[in-house]
Amino acid sequence: MNTQDVQTFKNWFYFYVKSFASDDPEFQRNMDLKEQHTKRVCQEATDIGKDLGLNEADLCLAEVSALFHDVGRFEQYRQFKTFSDRHSVNHAEFGVAILEKEGVLNRLESPVKDLIKTIISYHNRPRLPEDVDEKCLLFSRLLRDADKLDIWRVVTDYYQQMENGNKNEAVELDLPDTPGISRPVFDRIIQGEPVLFENMKNLNDFKLLQAGWVYDVNFAPSLRRLRDRGYLKKLQKALPDSEEIRQIFKTIESHVEGQLNP
Ligand SMILES: [Fe+2]
Repeated sequence: MNTQDVQTFKNWFYFYVKSFASDDPEFQRNMDLKEQHTKRVCQEATDIGKDLGLNEADLCLAEVSALFHDVGRFEQYRQFKTFSDRHSVNHAEFGVAILEKEGVLNRLESPVKDLIKTIISYHNRPRLPEDVDEKCLLFSRLLRDADKLDIWRVVTDYYQQMENGNKNEAVELDLPDTPGISRPVFDRIIQGEPVLFENMKNLNDFKLLQAGWVYDVNFAPSLRRLRDRGYLKKLQKALPDSEEIRQIFKTIESHVEGQLNP
């Protein structure tokens, strides 16, 4: 794959996104949110890839998997009016089906085409499967890091705006904003394990799930970005100031420091 392929795919993607343009401001806001997210994940994937010393062709592969990773989000929202996979479809699989139906990747040879589809289908799994080959593993990890970095950005910006009363249920996955946190969420983080989706009962749990992603970051350049941008501090600020929360952030911050300064 080369930069010409990447450009062709970008043209297709932005044209595709335009077909979802709407007069409904709420709908349009959510389309814009995913379009901007995609743009930034492409940038993150490229930046981390460069830090990892990837060559030109591999950087193209990283960028294209980032470009298409959330292509299913637009149709998901149009059909189901939610970004919650639990309440609709698995947006990664849904995106792969769209790419297949539209024949978007047909200019590529089969092995690369299949690789991209696999990377996309893995991006939202709680864990990567065990038996993934080395190349697929590298690019899946890279995409997952790039995606998380931008989601941290989106949600921390959003929690800050929420303090000014701007709400968007689509971002909160329709979870209730009730007090306290759930015990299994606390236990998982203290044990050094990412929080499970099924552990989440309210918005605080969701914020802690995002904090617990630090255990699922694959590369030092990604962790460095997380630390330097202060995302953990911002998440903590969006949560109640309790002893449990302080303990959680102490644990994850020392994990990050330990990873970066072994
Ligand atoms: Fe996604």
